Amino acid sequence: MCGIIGCAGRSEDTLDVLLSGLEGLEYRGYDSAGVALANGSLDVCKKQGEIARLQQAVGGLRGPVGIGHTRWSTHGPPTDANAHPHTDCTGDVAVVHNGIIENYEELKTELRERGHEFTSDTDSEVVPHLVEERLAEGASFEDAFRAAVARLEGSYALAAVTADSEAILATRHDSPLVVGVGDDAAYLASDVPAFLEYTDRVVYLEDGEFARLESGSWTVTDAEGRLLDKSISRVEWDAEETAKSGYDHYMLKEIHEQPRALRKALRGRVDEMTGSVDVESLAGLSPSSVQFVACGTSYHAALYGAQLLREEGVPAQAFLASEYATAPAPVDDDALVVGVTQSGETADTLSALREAHRRDVETLAMTNVVGSTATRECDRTLLIRAGPEIGVAATKTFSSQVVACNLLASTVARGEDAREVVGALRDLPGQVQELLDDSRAEQVADRFVDGAGYFFIGRGYHHPVALEGALKLKEITYKHAEGFPAGELKHGPLALVTDETPVFALATGDDEQATKTVGNVKEVEARDAPVVAVTDGVSDVGRYADEVLRVPETHPRVAPVLANVQLQLVAYHVANRLGRSIDKPRNLAKSVTVE
Ligand code: M6R
Repeated sequence: MCGIIGCAGRSEDTLDVLLSGLEGLEYRGYDSAGVALANGSLDVCKKQGEIARLQQAVGGLRGPVGIGHTRWSTHGPPTDANAHPHTDCTGDVAVVHNGIIENYEELKTELRERGHEFTSDTDSEVVPHLVEERLAEGASFEDAFRAAVARLEGSYALAAVTADSEAILATRHDSPLVVGVGDDAAYLASDVPAFLEYTDRVVYLEDGEFARLESGSWTVTDAEGRLLDKSISRVEWDAEETAKSGYDHYMLKEIHEQPRALRKALRGRVDEMTGSVDVESLAGLSPSSVQFVACGTSYHAALYGAQLLREEGVPAQAFLASEYATAPAPVDDDALVVGVTQSGETADTLSALREAHRRDVETLAMTNVVGSTATRECDRTLLIRAGPEIGVAATKTFSSQVVACNLLASTVARGEDAREVVGALRDLPGQVQELLDDSRAEQVADRFVDGAGYFFIGRGYHHPVALEGALKLKEITYKHAEGFPAGELKHGPLALVTDETPVFALATGDDEQATKTVGNVKEVEARDAPVVAVTDGVSDVGRYADEVLRVPETHPRVAPVLANVQLQLVAYHVANRLGRSIDKPRNLAKSVTVE
């Protein structure tokens, strides 16, 4: 949560760089924002609300060095005072922070006793005051910053400037930070899209490393101040991928990007003729069992993945990452723990992966973000290659995670020949395109926008999609929605079903599961609930439905992706009718870096 941007060396347009960087980071938090520019003196402007409010208020601040921040509140409500950057008593030191400083109360008490005055409720404000004290003792900015950081417990990405230094100092511990290397300028951000417009050359900071950015130069040192020889990586994403490109919302753009994302997920990894899957990073993998750990949408992909592996004869379970360490499930020596995480930065998932490390289990990061913390901490990485996802609601990354689960399952398979599945995966991008070109989701959304609540039911591989359909709807429409295994509805939730609660039923093919789901549809129909069938038309579920959302026929393992795209579109159009903040739903953030 929270986004940090910094820029050194572009004296003319530092403010523009900071503001456009903040827009690129707004998905990380958007309840307040601020900037500080240093130019002999320190100019700070910060505002409660979205970045547009800061843009109106900021005027023409100038300076060769600046930092900025967009906030997702943890300590104290979203107000101007609680917005970052925070400053010290002299107003000469400004700091932005992402994370949680656990010992801030103790530090605050101590600092207050020595005469410091605080103006916010935040944990972060202790940092500029700690820097101030050391500067007052005659320390250099760098020594003062290091000494302040040494006092902190918790998680942090920090960037600091002073009125009269032309450098930005930064460090991280359990929160992401990446340096952007330009020709004449250096950048710093929580995530690459913030400066991708200016450079695609990046240096990922590791925990405990310190960066110093000055006009056209950058250095990274370790905790003891020794210079490190860090390598520069080139990111493959381009700035166009992070723009809205004519769509009203990132979410809609990202839904429509799925055919391309799916092709990229498969490229060079599958051979349709032989049905073989060859993913370099999975070479030699043959786990005795697999545990998936994930949150939210990624957890739904993990549920799907676990089912897939079990079908391949590999014992597998999916765990909510936030619960994984609470009551650790037994794990055998040759097990594999897979962290499914779009961002690679979700604190709950990282914490579960660290628990796996403590237990000496091999770990795999299934992620979208090269260089993310998950990739750096796990033994192996399987990139899902979905491209940047800016909308808070995960869409294309779910589809790409499902494909990645298939790549993993085929690699470790002990079961059937993968040829058929691989063929279906290769057809999937075209089928998603077909569905996007001709979906009735908007009409369905129009018809049911006033629903009192929504239910989603599905069996087998459609169960995770039922959960995902409900999550998508609730997070962007703010309407109540629940997903269930179709057979579970009658064990309680059916009491909530009325003629005002549309039920979305997922049923493809005509196997036993589909037949049973048709039975469950009849049960809700008998209670007068409007039914929307998401189906390929093979079973007769459509006969009992008020609306049908068609998906192309395919392999049962692949059908959930198609069904899910229909549900993404329904959620989007309902939210749009209701005028919701689709890309930045209230109270949420894309990258949840607190536990
Ligand atoms: O980056 P991650 O995949 O680890 O994020 C996990 C969840 O926070 C995330 O999937 C969240 O549920 C979605 N943004 C919901 O659309």
